[in-house]
Amino acid sequence: MSGLDIKQALLDEFGSPSEFYASFMTYVDFSKTSLYICAASILFNPTFWNIVARLEYNTHFLTKLAGGAKKGCYALAVTIFSLGILRDFLYEQALRDQPYCARLDIPPTKMLAAVLFGYGNILVLSSMYALGVTGTYLGDYFGILMDDRVTGFPFNITDNPMYYGSFLSFLGTALWFSKPAGILLSLVVLVMYLIALRFEEPFTAEIYAKRERERAAAADGKKSK
Ligand SMILES: *[C@@H]1O[C@H](CO)[C@@H](O)[C@H](O)[C@H]1NC(C)=O
Repeated sequence: MSGLDIKQALLDEFGSPSEFYASFMTYVDFSKTSLYICAASILFNPTFWNIVARLEYNTHFLTKLAGGAKKGCYALAVTIFSLGILRDFLYEQALRDQPYCARLDIPPTKMLAAVLFGYGNILVLSSMYALGVTGTYLGDYFGILMDDRVTGFPFNITDNPMYYGSFLSFLGTALWFSKPAGILLSLVVLVMYLIALRFEEPFTAEIYAKRERERAAAADGKKSK
């Protein structure tokens, strides 16, 4: 099938992009409070961990409260993990309240849904396994740095397997239950993570660059002795 055939097939099936958008939106019930609660939770989580982690970096308040950097990081990890569970629960609740789209409920969609959900979870779990608890949950902000950059799977696929994997799991769930509103919420997840990355990536890069400068300075110091 050439690109043109596919384009024609999509046009035949869904009409013009604006028609598609309009019919998509009829499957999003904006009168349901659960939709907004879920969206709020999606927006809240990365905002929360970025604020707390930077506060920790600047003041070490969690390290002081918990009596150690590692303990502080574990406390933050438990909190972030719990917020994630809560968000997944709110997502499920929101989907329950949203219109079902029979057109989506066909075997190819179900298959795609299962693949996306499975692949998304593989990305999330394997990156947690590769990074460990402190590596996954912002240990760098506590001064717990990784010795080396992790380059094996899943980091040879994407730099941010946790975020993209999470997005794919949300999308897979939406498709599995044939809920277009879930696709919309998944996009909110993706956008939120892309925004979070714009804050996180330069910041952690600087944390590691600082360590490299300190190592280089220490090596220079030794040489000149
Ligand atoms: C990533 O690493 C895994 C495991 O080492 C390997 O099987 C896979 O082919 C690699 N993928 C890419 C795109 O390099």
